[in-house]
Amino acid sequence: MKEENSPKNRAMSLIRTISSTAIRAGNEALKRKLNKNSEETDSFMSEAALRLVKGLDELKGAAMKVGQLLSMVDDNILPPGWKDALGKLQSQATSKNWSFIEPILLKEFGNLDGFSNIEKTAVHAASIGQVHKATLKDGTNVAIKVQYPDLEKSVKSDLQNMKKIVKIANLMPNMANYDQIFEAVEMLFIQELDFEREKNYYNIYREKFKTNNQIIVPKTFAEYSTKNVLTTEWIEAISLQEWLNKYSKILHTDPEYIKKRDNLGNILLELVFTEIFHFKHIQSDPNPANFLVTDNGELVLLDFGATQELSDELIENYSKLTLSAVQKNENELIKTAKKMGFLNRHDSPEAKESFIKMMEIAIEPFMNDKYSWKDCHQLKRTNMESIHFMRHTKFRAPSPEIIFINRRLGGNLLIMESLGATVFAKDILYRILDKKEI
Ligand SMILES: Nc1ncnc2c1ncn2[C@@H]1O[C@H](COP(=O)(O)OP(=O)(O)O)[C@@H](O)[C@H]1O
Ligand SMILES: [Mg+2]
Repeated sequence: MKEENSPKNRAMSLIRTISSTAIRAGNEALKRKLNKNSEETDSFMSEAALRLVKGLDELKGAAMKVGQLLSMVDDNILPPGWKDALGKLQSQATSKNWSFIEPILLKEFGNLDGFSNIEKTAVHAASIGQVHKATLKDGTNVAIKVQYPDLEKSVKSDLQNMKKIVKIANLMPNMANYDQIFEAVEMLFIQELDFEREKNYYNIYREKFKTNNQIIVPKTFAEYSTKNVLTTEWIEAISLQEWLNKYSKILHTDPEYIKKRDNLGNILLELVFTEIFHFKHIQSDPNPANFLVTDNGELVLLDFGATQELSDELIENYSKLTLSAVQKNENELIKTAKKMGFLNRHDSPEAKESFIKMMEIAIEPFMNDKYSWKDCHQLKRTNMESIHFMRHTKFRAPSPEIIFINRRLGGNLLIMESLGATVFAKDILYRILDKKEI
């Protein structure tokens, strides 16, 4: 291991980054108290957050991953402006130079003779690696995902340090139970570093959707894949985010794009329920860069590093919870909620009431034949009620399995709302629950 990347140096960089951020954030908090002009304060806050982002970006690895996960945490837990700044880690990580990447590929493959071309500039960089477009000798275009070295070694110490610093800096003052969450992050992170595992899930999803003409899962190339490098067939398409930006002006007025928008909404909803109730595993990282859209409106699924297996018990409980909410069976709903650990017998009537309200919002799309996600603010209303609920239940952290499902469902919801799609949600849910083989 190179000296500059030793655990001790990483820890020092992390401490430097976060302590300078914390001092800055402290000043800003004081300023906020003295000066209620929130616009000005928000821009100050973002400045502190941007320092944090820059430091984490340089460190890469687990430190950055935690930053990314924090960006998904609710705005009411993080200081104002931080969510957006941390979100940058997700979409705008800095890539490493070719001189850093080439030796990794040479070490993994021995030589690069199988490729007729590899683009030296990465098409995408993230916390654990970056993607280069390349062409095989036979003319096939591929995406090579290259993992940065030595990440596994730094995971544990990075996470330990992050945990201490997050606690000391009081970055998440309302989260009572970090330990379980950090453990889940560690498990997820170690799994994501295993590209053999990811390759297997690519193959599983490709096989399952081979007769579906709306969903494309790229083929993998075993001969150009290792634990640290994953080569997949290049699919010509743009990310869902770019698609949304490109067509935002005509998405709700041009009949052709209304159709495409609704079609994508239907596919995405069917996809997530199929994963939960049939496959019994979910891709738990639903950021819009992991979905591409082709010119024909097909959906491309990428990035299976965060795929999580779900237990039969959890799936059974989730379907009970959903059905009892749809059927307005409050007794069964509360019983299942207790079984799943959302509620316990010490909880106040307000907590139960809030849980029922949360579920009512969640199942809204399944109460009528069609549901429009345009301007329905389902996510915002869910978040507001969940804050209320968390206050009444003293911020108990749910089990990691539930965190993963909720992260996916929440991410899906965000995408549905960005699309503003009209979807036959009720039919999709019942069709999938009917065919379930538990
Ligand atoms: N097979 C592919 N075809 C086209 N683009 C790809 C392909 N694989 C990856 N990409 C591009 O690279 C980005 C990152 O790939 P991904 O597998 O999501 O890596 P990460 O785990 O770093 O997020 C994607 O968002 C997409 O833009
Ligand atoms: Mg990705």
